[in-house]
Amino acid sequence: MSDYEPFVAVETDEKIAVYPGTFDPITMGHLDIINRSLNLFDRVIIVIATNSSKKPLFSVEERLMMIRACFPGNEGRIEVDTVDNLLVDYAYTKGAKAIIRGLRAVSDFDYEFQLALMNRRIERDVETVFLMTGFRWIFISSSIIKDVARHGGDVSGLVPDHVCEKLREKYLQI
Ligand code: COA
Repeated sequence: MSDYEPFVAVETDEKIAVYPGTFDPITMGHLDIINRSLNLFDRVIIVIATNSSKKPLFSVEERLMMIRACFPGNEGRIEVDTVDNLLVDYAYTKGAKAIIRGLRAVSDFDYEFQLALMNRRIERDVETVFLMTGFRWIFISSSIIKDVARHGGDVSGLVPDHVCEKLREKYLQI
């Protein structure tokens, strides 16, 4: 007998999207994509997922806290979660029809294309939807923000205030 258990999708009429990322830390660019997603979907699940080639500065708990603190009054339409296994399986079990990815520059495209096609190969019922990041955030990334903060530079306006504070605390500890 096989150990394989098929994933069971939640039956729902809600339009649900999953927005995955490392979020180390969440930036204004991510928030811009989340706001755009809320115009298209009833509910957005922000999921901290593992990118095996990254070694995050913040723990999963710290990242969860920083993301949750961005949405004090929006609990009904926003959920924040973590996933340890395949993202597309998670999306399917949650009844999500879409995985949201933000596109900044052309350089994002190759990698995003690869992820989207692999996810589609695994689960055909979940589409990847690409949203274009607001122009102001096209040149930021979590790494560049961490690099500036590590050297004592000012990142206010590029991340929420509470994230600015967390970055300051983190680099004082190191
Ligand atoms: N504005 C500003 N910056 C943005 C952004 C936006 N709108 N969207 C992404 N970025 C930045 C992020 O800050 C991040 O910067 P960094 O590399 O300096 O940390 C970078 O763009 C890309 O990060 P992110 O969107 O977080 O993707 P990721 O590559 O870290 O994560 C996962 C990819 C986690 C979604 C992917 O690895 C995954 O799905 N893992 C789960 C396991 C799985 O299913 N694997 C098989 C995949 S086919």
